[in-house]
Amino acid sequence: NITPVILSGGSGSRLWPLSRALRPKQFLGVTEDRSLFQLTLSRLKMDSKDLFIDAPVIVANDDHRFLVAQQCLDIAVKPKSLILEPIGRNTAPAIAVAAFSLLEEDPILLVLPSDHIFANDQAFLETVKIGAQAAKMSGLVTFGIVPTAPETGYGYVKSSVPLDPTKAVPVEKFVEKPNLETAKQYIQEGSYTWNSGMFMFKASVFLTELKKFQPDIYDAAKNAWEGAKKDLDFIRLDLESFGKCRSDSIDYAVMEKTSNALVVPLDAGWNDVGSWSSVWQALPQDEKGNVQRGNTLMMDCSNSFVHADHRFVALLGVDNIVVVETSDAILVANKDKVQDVKKIVEELKAKK
Ligand code: GDD
Ligand code: MG
Repeated sequence: NITPVILSGGSGSRLWPLSRALRPKQFLGVTEDRSLFQLTLSRLKMDSKDLFIDAPVIVANDDHRFLVAQQCLDIAVKPKSLILEPIGRNTAPAIAVAAFSLLEEDPILLVLPSDHIFANDQAFLETVKIGAQAAKMSGLVTFGIVPTAPETGYGYVKSSVPLDPTKAVPVEKFVEKPNLETAKQYIQEGSYTWNSGMFMFKASVFLTELKKFQPDIYDAAKNAWEGAKKDLDFIRLDLESFGKCRSDSIDYAVMEKTSNALVVPLDAGWNDVGSWSSVWQALPQDEKGNVQRGNTLMMDCSNSFVHADHRFVALLGVDNIVVVETSDAILVANKDKVQDVKKIVEELKAKK
């Protein structure tokens, strides 16, 4: 069996000002009414022959416990457990505590970000099936997306033999968030795919690799799990041990270092809804490439995105622009610069 581990502790700061500390993007309906988090859970409940997916383990921030519980209830999902982090320590510790929570049964984990969408959910499940075969054999499975641009916000995976949609092949190199120059080189070389941010491995296999490469994170996560309060509807990790844990992502902490990584190509219309340009891409555009949401008007505009929450917003004669209006903040940005929206959020935090 497969146990999904849903990572929902991110801050989603690149989708500011819609995404906020108390309601980050995964809990918002970005492309439709249901939130990205709910879409992630619903996708796993779809019928798929020979794929046995258990109830999910959800790892989220303590601040969002009611939001998570309510959103699960709304779509009739009963998590296997809801693990709460007192503070975010990025994905390596989050996955580690989920793995410790399941170590006795040692199922295959299907680690999923809570903020991705797929144009073809069925194709996603078919690929998971292929990943499960390889994960059963002690591999750490990644899912590779054919890249369309030298994006620097992604991990890059180079396979050691040509990709095969019917099975996982060994990874030669995994590089997390290369600089633009390197990303351009990888795209030119052609043998690289983007890491989708989803992973499959047995709980024990991940923990063995983590212990090997990051023993301090392994120890801190183990202590946080062992010291957790488990008598409520949710599991509260031990603040002291988890607080001491170093912050690192699975990509840097394990995937760049392991020699047991495998990759399966994923062709399911993946979109990680990471920035305003991916939201623009995920939504239907008019013939001039514009996307409008809310009470808006666009005149002589092209390739632009406008979102209005509270007020009427008009755009005139602009190209490649993003405008996002909310009750207390407005973003106007060049669409090519939207990766840097998180810098605005950092700046705001520093000013507080
Ligand atoms: N529980 C928990 N705790 N979840 C977290 C934390 C945390 O501290 N930090 C991030 N997450 C969740 C996010 O909510 C998201 O669903 C997922 O983990 C991935 O984190 P991101 O912060 O979105 O990662 P990224 O987009 O920079 O990079 C990853 O995804 C890319 C594809 O979207 C990497 O895996 C890249 O290699 C990959 O290309
Ligand atoms: Mg992301």
